[in-house]
Amino acid sequence: MTEILYRPETSQDDAAINSLTDQAFGPGRYAKAAERLREGNHRLLSLSIVATLDGRLLGSVRMWPIQVGGAAAVFLGPIAVDAASRKLGIGQTLVALACTAARKAGWNHVLLVGDAPYFSRMGFCPAPSVTMPGPVDQRRVLSLRLRTGPSDLAGQARV
Ligand SMILES: CC(C)(COP(=O)(O)OP(=O)(O)OC[C@H]1O[C@@H](n2cnc3c(N)ncnc32)[C@H](O)[C@@H]1OP(=O)(O)O)[C@@H](O)C(=O)NCCC(=O)NCCS
Repeated sequence: MTEILYRPETSQDDAAINSLTDQAFGPGRYAKAAERLREGNHRLLSLSIVATLDGRLLGSVRMWPIQVGGAAAVFLGPIAVDAASRKLGIGQTLVALACTAARKAGWNHVLLVGDAPYFSRMGFCPAPSVTMPGPVDQRRVLSLRLRTGPSDLAGQARV
């Protein structure tokens, strides 16, 4: 049986990722506060991970460089897994691989806006001192510290 392949995103994955993400989130995704941290930004391809099976895209997570207060951080999202391939651990593996790659590349923090019951499984905690550039349910603003030492993220998140 063929195994799921996890690898960094390349520019050739763009169309398939956009299609998968559109299916997962619908057209409203561009109205979200999180999108303010992606527009005019460039994704970090080496930290953004895709899952494929026989060349077909099953899942994707994207990572973006941002600033929070005076600190550099990575913004995670969107994450999407093909509807027929969910609950197999693909989402969790994508997040783990992206965060490990970010730590190895020297980043200290990952920030995201998402469901705490899901991302707390991967170690994410509420980030009450981070302000998003748009309306958001503050309970969904979560962060993960990638190494001991740096203080928690605090301040305005911006590109
Ligand atoms: C969220 C998503 C990426 C998870 O992908 P996945 O590959 O199915 O995730 P995993 O297999 O690692 O984890 C599945 C588990 O997480 C749970 N889970 C999935 N989404 C959840 C959520 N939003 N809140 C709480 N738990 C969630 C599942 O019920 C499952 O639980 P189980 O292990 O007890 O059966 C996928 O459901 C998806 O693409 N959803 C649409 C896009 C989306 O909402 N993305 C952002 C999420 S905040």
